[in-house]
Amino acid sequence: MKPIVLCATPLMDYAIGKLEADYDLHRLDRAKDRSALIAGIGPSVRGIVTNGKADAELMAGCPNLEIVSSFGVGYDGVDVGYAGENGIVVCNTPDVLNDEVANTAIILLLAVFRKIVAYDKYVRAGRWLAEGDPPLTRSVAGKQIGIVGLGRIGKTIAEKLQVFGCKIAYHGRTQQADVTYPYHADPISLAESSDAIIVITPGGAATQHMINRDVIDALGPDGGMINVARGSVVDEQALVEALIEGRLGAAGLDVFESEPSVPEALFQMDNVTLQPHQGSATVETRQAMADRMLDNLANFFAGKPPLSRVV
Ligand code: NAP
Ligand code: 8YV
Repeated sequence: MKPIVLCATPLMDYAIGKLEADYDLHRLDRAKDRSALIAGIGPSVRGIVTNGKADAELMAGCPNLEIVSSFGVGYDGVDVGYAGENGIVVCNTPDVLNDEVANTAIILLLAVFRKIVAYDKYVRAGRWLAEGDPPLTRSVAGKQIGIVGLGRIGKTIAEKLQVFGCKIAYHGRTQQADVTYPYHADPISLAESSDAIIVITPGGAATQHMINRDVIDALGPDGGMINVARGSVVDEQALVEALIEGRLGAAGLDVFESEPSVPEALFQMDNVTLQPHQGSATVETRQAMADRMLDNLANFFAGKPPLSRVV
């Protein structure tokens, strides 16, 4: 008998096809009545597949749950406390997306410094023809870039930025012994000494609004802030106010506090580049993430250690 697995989120067809082949798959993401589906099938569910979100209520509705296999590296939306207390294994998909998310961060950094989106609009609006060349932009070469969260993705960003001639420093909870980039124990100190910061920590309570008004003011009117982490890491209201008041120079944002809702004040700002949480969103990388999510599940049900287990 195939293990019963609950799909709690829409996933790409590639993943759904493989899940349907190997498991008795039930689609909570498509259920008209979620409570009725969980009341009926919950006690038989052995695995949940999700995209970084599984609260205690969902897991409690599946009292014989053994594994949550998440599609994505960030698992701030999974109640890992509940999972741990109830012997539920939690897996994620690290590393396979490092390059893509790092590329997204660098695309946003370059877009902000070189005004790529604003000048695309300038050409389309016929302003090049009518008004001539727009003002010069700024180079990233030689600039000091602060990485907030020098983990797997943060290190990949730092390595790639060497090619652009950037100088790197970082902030995290602890200084890393094997890293030679300058360390700042305080994000304000990192921001003060940076032309731009790139935020790439996990989300969750520990990093909630870590990038606050003080950090933003330390970047200043010529500074830039790129967020590819989680919307919760940045105080979005403080960010919008700083941009409106000219206390921050520019921002490149892939993630938002209440996504897919985005503060409308940002829509008219030419010094802001927005993306709809696209950090890992290529066919190739999403397929690699799906494979890791599936391999974690397959290993677990074959009695082998999952490839990337967090709880
Ligand atoms: P990782 O390897 O665990 O790295 C996380 C880094 O953040 C570590 O260097 C850690 O350093 C630092 N950190 C953790 N908690 C911190 C805190 N409270 N204060 C300061 N620094 C802290 O994770 P990763 O694989 O690079 O992924 C990072 C995050 O990126 C994910 O959790 C996810 O939220 C986000 N992400 C976004 C996208 C997207 O599409 N935009 C895609 C993938 C991932 P210390 O332990 O020294 O503090
Ligand atoms: C995905 C992400 O957008 O891996 C993460 O933590 O944020 C992204 O890669 C997400 O997990 C898929 O919905």
